[in-house]
Amino acid sequence: MKDFVFHTPTEVIFGHNAEDKIASRIQKYGGTKVLLHYGGASAERSGLLPKIREQLTAAGIAFVELGGVVPNPRVSLVRQGIAICREQGIDFILAVGGGSVIDSAKAIGFGTPYEEDVWNLFLGKGTAKSCLPIGSVLTIPAAGSEMSNGCVITNEEGWHKRAYTTELSRCRFAIMNPERTFTLPPYQTACGVTDIMMHTFERYFSLEDDMTVTDSIAEAILRTTMQAAPIVLKNPTDYRWRAQIMWAGSLAHNDLTGCGTVGDWATHHLEHELSALFDVAHGAGLAAMWGSWARYVMSTRVSRFVQFAVNVMGVENDFTDPEGTALRGIERMEEFYRSIGMPTSIPELIGRPATEEEILLMADKCCRQDTHTEGNFKVLYRKEMEDVYRLANK
Ligand code: NZQ
Ligand code: ZN
Repeated sequence: MKDFVFHTPTEVIFGHNAEDKIASRIQKYGGTKVLLHYGGASAERSGLLPKIREQLTAAGIAFVELGGVVPNPRVSLVRQGIAICREQGIDFILAVGGGSVIDSAKAIGFGTPYEEDVWNLFLGKGTAKSCLPIGSVLTIPAAGSEMSNGCVITNEEGWHKRAYTTELSRCRFAIMNPERTFTLPPYQTACGVTDIMMHTFERYFSLEDDMTVTDSIAEAILRTTMQAAPIVLKNPTDYRWRAQIMWAGSLAHNDLTGCGTVGDWATHHLEHELSALFDVAHGAGLAAMWGSWARYVMSTRVSRFVQFAVNVMGVENDFTDPEGTALRGIERMEEFYRSIGMPTSIPELIGRPATEEEILLMADKCCRQDTHTEGNFKVLYRKEMEDVYRLANK
């Protein structure tokens, strides 16, 4: 097991009426003037935003609103948010929504005190020194941003999607009421489930073998999420199983499943180029890529894929044919994705095959013009990235 540091400072308020605690938590963390940040219409329609406005007003907390965050959140809105925070003396950001809203809030949070353009941070040209405190009210379990140190933003100039990671941006608190996810459409629910599973996979498919506790936690998250998905797709208001997914989403990406492992993250970064170019949902893009990545890298350590097939996918271990066992695990995973309405190839994702030029462009952006590799389970250079995209394009 690799040495590790595990630091998860976010206070989680989970369960029925959790949102009643928003004002008291903002005050606890020193907020007096809040940027209320949200996405499109879902939080307004569900009555969550009106409830939050009422609560802030009753508590005497001043707030300024900035809605309009779109999936694959844009740097242009982040820049607007930064300008508002500077002009209005904002001292706390409340993100109401999913990963896109929370990531936008994080970028505004560390972009406000940063003297230069915030995109420099995403290009690796600077380091954030401080960040406004952020709280989140989660409405879709998926990205895990409510407890992660990551932030993923898209720059419309050139459609670059890049991540910036800093401990400074971890949310002070996360409000999680599973009832708030009852309104999620089936497609978004399935995208969320896929992303949660992928955050676990990215850490599970590691060349480290000696991490039994971490493996067991990861396998439990994967099995539970797969058990829950068909139940909530059939009955969206099933509190018990919405709650399992919601908590799994945070545990999958707060580094718990990364303790002692070395993460891979190639599928994620290959996907980021897909969602940058085609503006697709991140979870669906991951489902479209994962099987191809898995087949491509499997031979590096077949035993890891056998363990996954047997412990997670319930495949019977054929000791005479480890490759066969491993492959059956991958096939069953893809069957699961299809069963919840997720694509398992690029043509299914975007409605047509990607052109050769698009594949070359995505690989070129992913390897940052040959200056960068992806993956640890198997290191991918430009050519390997192209290979995986081509496999997924069948
Ligand atoms: O904008 P509204 O109207 O709210 O609609 C949203 C949005 O269209 C809708 N939605 C959210 N909660 C809802 C709801 N609809 C009905 N009822 C509700 N309760 O869902 C749609 C998707 O929302 P979004 O926030 O985009 O989803 P998600 O949480 O999956 O976030 C995806 C983003 O997070 C990034 C992804 O790349 C993508 O940009 N990621 C962030 C990570 C991190 N910060 O650690 C890690 C992840 O791997 C990921 O890359
Ligand atoms: Zn993800």
